[in-house]
Amino acid sequence: MKMREVKDITAMSVDERIAYAKANSPLTEEELQMIKEGSALTTDRADQMVENVIGVYSLPYSIAPGFVINGKEMIVPMVGEEPYVTKSTTSGARLAAANGGFTASTTGSFMIGQIQMLNIENPETARLKILEDKQRLIEAANKVDPVLVSFGGGCTDVEVRTIETMIGQMVIIHLIINVCDAMGAQAINAMVEAAAPIAEEITGGKANLKVLSNYAIYRLARARVCIKKEDLGGEENVDKFVSAYAFAAADPFRAATNNKGVMNGMIPVVVATGNDTRAVESGVHSYAARNGRYSTITIWEKNNNGDLEGMIEVPMAVGTVGGTTKFHPAAQVSLKMMGITKADDFEKVIVSVGLAANLGVLYSLVTVGLHGDFESARK
Ligand code: MEV
Repeated sequence: MKMREVKDITAMSVDERIAYAKANSPLTEEELQMIKEGSALTTDRADQMVENVIGVYSLPYSIAPGFVINGKEMIVPMVGEEPYVTKSTTSGARLAAANGGFTASTTGSFMIGQIQMLNIENPETARLKILEDKQRLIEAANKVDPVLVSFGGGCTDVEVRTIETMIGQMVIIHLIINVCDAMGAQAINAMVEAAAPIAEEITGGKANLKVLSNYAIYRLARARVCIKKEDLGGEENVDKFVSAYAFAAADPFRAATNNKGVMNGMIPVVVATGNDTRAVESGVHSYAARNGRYSTITIWEKNNNGDLEGMIEVPMAVGTVGGTTKFHPAAQVSLKMMGITKADDFEKVIVSVGLAANLGVLYSLVTVGLHGDFESARK
């Protein structure tokens, strides 16, 4: 396989990096200047986004070049305050690119909206009644968002569970909603509110909370990468990666730090596109605890050749339409930089960047150590 040469832009000046971004992305000079000047979001515009605005707050906007994801090369925008993160993520991306890049996939944009049902006398009977009549809930939900339905989305199914709580049994209804290219929170919340009265009618109970779940187990994104042992300094280092994974898999103290390193890559991309960082964080961390104990969200294995196989699978609820993504001019620039229009493709990028961040940092940790590498990066 032909090795991909990815330029190291660390030693470039800001203007040279801008020229590099112009030559290697669809962005115009004006768009890049807007990012350089930090003038994308005016106070007036910010005042239309959230409440009680008195100004805007700036953060460094970096680029991570050389990502190869499903064969497509791109520059990834990263907005964040932590030094060394862009550099180590880029070195992970470069290692991956030299080995064919990341292979990424998703399950599709299916989110869960929850309806909490109270005062139900026979929960199991209620559960079956809701399932028998689920079409009525689906219809009520879909009526509130004909635009989403016209794009092929909307409520597609209903699930019901009975759960034991400290105040007794509850019936919990899940609407499964295809939110297409949106993050989906608003559509989901509107849909569960519209379906709740039907659920009350069917069960004779009372609907309490009606809101989306950030534990988005039907909106998973996955990425994997295979790195030749030679590119890691030999099989001994592959073994060290596997040991680091075993440590994180067994120990929540290490898992939390490992996952923080993964989020170091993901969250700056989420911020750069105006997406909801808290939704991504809560989805990822709840998934990390899905087996009853908090664990690592990345896996590192050695294959039969002695090469390193790495992978990640997490919920990824982000959008490319609506909300801040549409409203913040820099968010639009960030999506354009990557050539992304579909949420599905964007989800693949985010998990690949997370895996690259983990790869870059673990390489430092198992070789020269973090501090030594960080110091040399800052020189
Ligand atoms: C620092 O922001 C993140 C790391 O601690 C991640 C890790 O230990 O894997 C370096």
